[in-house]
Amino acid sequence: MMDMWWKAIFFGCLIASVLGAHNPCCSYPCENNGVCMTRGESYYCDCANLDFYGKHCETPTFMKRIKLFLKPDPDTLHNLLTSKKWLWNTINSIPFLANFVMKKVYTMRSDMIDSPPTYTSEHEYITVDSNFNLTVYTRTLPPVPKDCPTPMGVWGKKEMPPPEDIVKTFFLRKEFIPEPMGTSTLFSYFAQHFTHMFFKTDIKKGPQFQWGGHGVDVSHVYGKNKDSENNLRSFKDGKLKFQVVNDEVWPPLTKDAKVPMGYPKHVETNKQYAMGHSFFGLLPGLFMYGTIWLREHNRVCDILKAEHPEWNDERLFQTSKLVILGETIKIVIEDYVQHLSNYHYKLLFNPELLFGEQFQYQNRIAVEFNHLYHWHPLMPDEFNINGTKYNLKDFMFHPEIVVKHGMREFVDSMSRQRAGFFGPHNHGPLTIPVVTDLIKHGRTLRLQPFNQYRKKFNLAPLKSFEELTGEKKMAKQLEDFYGDINALEFYVGLIMEKRRHKALFGTSIVEMGGPFSVKGLMANPVCSPKYWKPSTFGGDVGFNLVKTATLQKLFCENIEGDCPEVSFRVPDYKEGDVLDFIKQKLEL
Ligand code: HEM
Ligand SMILES: *[C@@H]1O[C@H](CO)[C@@H](O)[C@H](O)[C@H]1NC(C)=O
Ligand SMILES: *[C@@H]1O[C@H](CO)[C@@H](O)[C@H](O)[C@H]1NC(C)=O
Repeated sequence: MMDMWWKAIFFGCLIASVLGAHNPCCSYPCENNGVCMTRGESYYCDCANLDFYGKHCETPTFMKRIKLFLKPDPDTLHNLLTSKKWLWNTINSIPFLANFVMKKVYTMRSDMIDSPPTYTSEHEYITVDSNFNLTVYTRTLPPVPKDCPTPMGVWGKKEMPPPEDIVKTFFLRKEFIPEPMGTSTLFSYFAQHFTHMFFKTDIKKGPQFQWGGHGVDVSHVYGKNKDSENNLRSFKDGKLKFQVVNDEVWPPLTKDAKVPMGYPKHVETNKQYAMGHSFFGLLPGLFMYGTIWLREHNRVCDILKAEHPEWNDERLFQTSKLVILGETIKIVIEDYVQHLSNYHYKLLFNPELLFGEQFQYQNRIAVEFNHLYHWHPLMPDEFNINGTKYNLKDFMFHPEIVVKHGMREFVDSMSRQRAGFFGPHNHGPLTIPVVTDLIKHGRTLRLQPFNQYRKKFNLAPLKSFEELTGEKKMAKQLEDFYGDINALEFYVGLIMEKRRHKALFGTSIVEMGGPFSVKGLMANPVCSPKYWKPSTFGGDVGFNLVKTATLQKLFCENIEGDCPEVSFRVPDYKEGDVLDFIKQKLEL
């Protein structure tokens, strides 16, 4: 009897493998976030708790049908928000309407992020570790099952194209292409410095591992742990250690603040500055932001001490840190995301709009968010600091360039310097290895195809490569590499997508990045009802610092004398000034 069973199983498997049977979930048959479950050799879709039913969760409920009918598509919304300036000026000036719009932005974006988190890169299904294991990034979509006919599921070729070929054909910069919305390198460095506080891959362990705190924790200013923080603190009046050079405040040297920094051996010890993040000494732009936050922290300490002469060092330090965190979120939303969105609607940081809503004050960093944020094309090859030219190589490992020119001149120059266009043929040679590795990591992690991510974020799956690139030549090359639009991989799709009208990026990067970003910012504990009150920030004085923070103030309150140009858009920008150049470079 036993023997017969084994024979049946053996021949069953043999037949299955001859017929090419595979895990039926490899074709992602379940729609609308339905979960694909194998049962023997067949499958079914779990549509529970969705507003959809049917074999493949394809049919919306009556209420959902109405909601879907009323919901404008993302590109229509984008076009509305980036045009009709008079309409938005009116809405901006009427608090009731402005708040209503902002609440919609918060909820529509953050609703798309599953909270608590659902998957990790280890399993294709939910596990207890999905929530409790903080050493790994979360996953928005589970990995492609291992027993599929192709690496991408059922589509495309059996072998993925070599990453080096992809990078050489589509990514490598021949000539610098400027960013068409006039974005400055002050913005590029903001993106890099801000996101490095929570994108911390522990690459020695593997691309799914991370050593960060899963959110906006200001660890780029205060260090990755208590030990670093203590080494950066002066333990006097709440302040961080600093040194004065050329009459300006700068971070201390590592000999005076023993924190691990990633300096190569050739950097002299008197140029090894200590900061909260181990990379921040590597690039002058990161050093600039690290320094300005240090100055701001110490300035806030003075303000709080004047208000609370009774407070000790510890209380001044801890409360100033909360103020810095609050200011960070305020500036990220109202300056940084504002520029990035290019909306005429003026974005607001107002946590009270979410009080009483269904909203989880917890966040987890997703590996897809990390990949999506590899914005290396934003970096030019050359920097002009008030007439002195440096190429990127001269910049690397030379934070003292900022000290030499002084904060005013450096910020002013970064504000006038054009960032790079985010798209094909614009990765500088120094960051080519970074993206080549990124593509490899995406494969090790078995990231699902680009089109699956489009669907997850309510975008229609693309039907062709031409629809992706908006032209024919690169589309044809991509087709040759991948064979099928459904086999296109995540990061390559993001880079190759045509730019959206009046936008810095393509549709997908904003529609996918927006939800992660809004969730990550608004789910911060300081936005929750128990934290968001004056007492948390040292009283009205501190609360007002948070509520009135701007990028301009961050720099100008911390630079002696006249205020330099502080801007995410270069002052000599004229709308559409480089569009013809881009067309020509991409041979459109
Ligand atoms: C010239 C400037 C830049 C250089 C030289 C540079 C270099 C690097 C290097 C060497 C890595 C580590 C790669 C690895 O471990 O495989 C990295 C990671 C990364 N970079 Fe850049 N980068 C630059 C600018 C930027 C900018 C402007 C952004 C925009 C947001 C950015 C976003 C990232 C992200 C998100 C990571 C992943 C970090 C992690 O997961 O730990 N980088 N970059
Ligand atoms: C977290 O997950 C990783 C990857 O599976 C594993 O190596 C590690 O031991 C887990 N950590 C804990 C605390 O369970
Ligand atoms: C740029 O250099 C000139 C000449 O040295 C100087 O007068 C000017 O103040 C500098 N600009 C800034 C913003 O520091």
